[in-house]
Amino acid sequence: MEYRKHRRRSLGVLLQSGDEWWSRRSSLNRELLAPAAVSRQATPLGGVARDFALRLDALRGAAGGEGHVAGLENELFKFALESVCSALFGERLGLLSPMVPPDSQRFIEAIATMFHSTVPMLVVPVRLHRVLNTKTWRRHCQAWDVIFSYADRWIQKSLLSFRADSSGDGGDGGGSAAPHGSIMANLLKRDTLSLDDLAASVTELMAGGVDTTSITLHWALMELARDPSLQEELRSEVTKAMTPGS
Ligand code: HEM
Repeated sequence: MEYRKHRRRSLGVLLQSGDEWWSRRSSLNRELLAPAAVSRQATPLGGVARDFALRLDALRGAAGGEGHVAGLENELFKFALESVCSALFGERLGLLSPMVPPDSQRFIEAIATMFHSTVPMLVVPVRLHRVLNTKTWRRHCQAWDVIFSYADRWIQKSLLSFRADSSGDGGDGGGSAAPHGSIMANLLKRDTLSLDDLAASVTELMAGGVDTTSITLHWALMELARDPSLQEELRSEVTKAMTPGS
C-alpha cells in the first residue's frame, strides 16, 4: 500500500476494499473465473505444462545417474510465471527454454525480494521504514519497481497490438502480444477498467501467481515423492477425470 502511494499507482484489487474493490474485481472475474473464460485457457496452459514436463525430463537426463533436477524451486517459479503470462497475454515468454531472458529472471528474483522485504515491515510499521528510508524499504521499492516495469512492458505491448488490431492495421492478431482469447485482449475489449487499474491488477496477477503456486507445488511434489502409493492414487484419479464421458 505504502509503495503504491509512494509511486502514485492504482491500488488494483489486492489493496482496494468495499465498492471500489468490487467494481474492479467483478470486471476481472468475468475474464478470470467464469467457466467459459477458464476453459479458453485450457489449451495454452496445457502447452506450458507439456513443455515443463519436457524440460524436467531434459534436466533429469542431463543430471545422469540418479536423475535429480537441480534447482527445482526456480524451475517451478518459471513454470508458474510462464503459465500466468501465457493466459494473460496469449504469448510465451520462453522461460522453459535453456536460456531464460534476463529480464524475466530479474522479475522472478524481484518477487522473492518483495515478499522477503515485506516481513520486517509487518513488525516495524512500514511508514517508519519509509520515513527513515531504511535498507528494507529501499529493497522493497526496488523490487516493486522491477515488478511494475516488467509488467508495464508486457501491458504496453498488448495495448499497442490491441489498438493496431482494432484499427485494422494489425492483421489477424496471429503472433501479436494480445491475441484474441487472451485475458488481456478480452479485458481491453471490455473496456471496464481504466488503464491504471488494469496495469495494477495485471501486475498483481503476475506477481501473485508465482511464489504462491510454485511453493505449493514444491511441497505437493515432495509429499508425492515420499509416498509412491499416493502417486498411483493421483495418477488414477487424473486418468479417470481425463477419460471422455467419465
Ligand atoms: C496456492 C496458490 C495461491 C495461494 C496460497 C494464494 C493466496 C492468496 C491470499 C491469502 C490472498 C489474500 C491476500 C489478502 O487479501 O491480503 C490472495 C489474493 C490474491 N491472489 Fe492469490 N494465491 C494463490 C494463487 C494465486 C494465483 C495463481 C494468482 C494469479 C494468477 C493469484 C492472484 C491473487 C490476486 C490478484 C489476489 C488479490 C485478490 C483480491 O483482493 O480481489 N493468486 N491470494
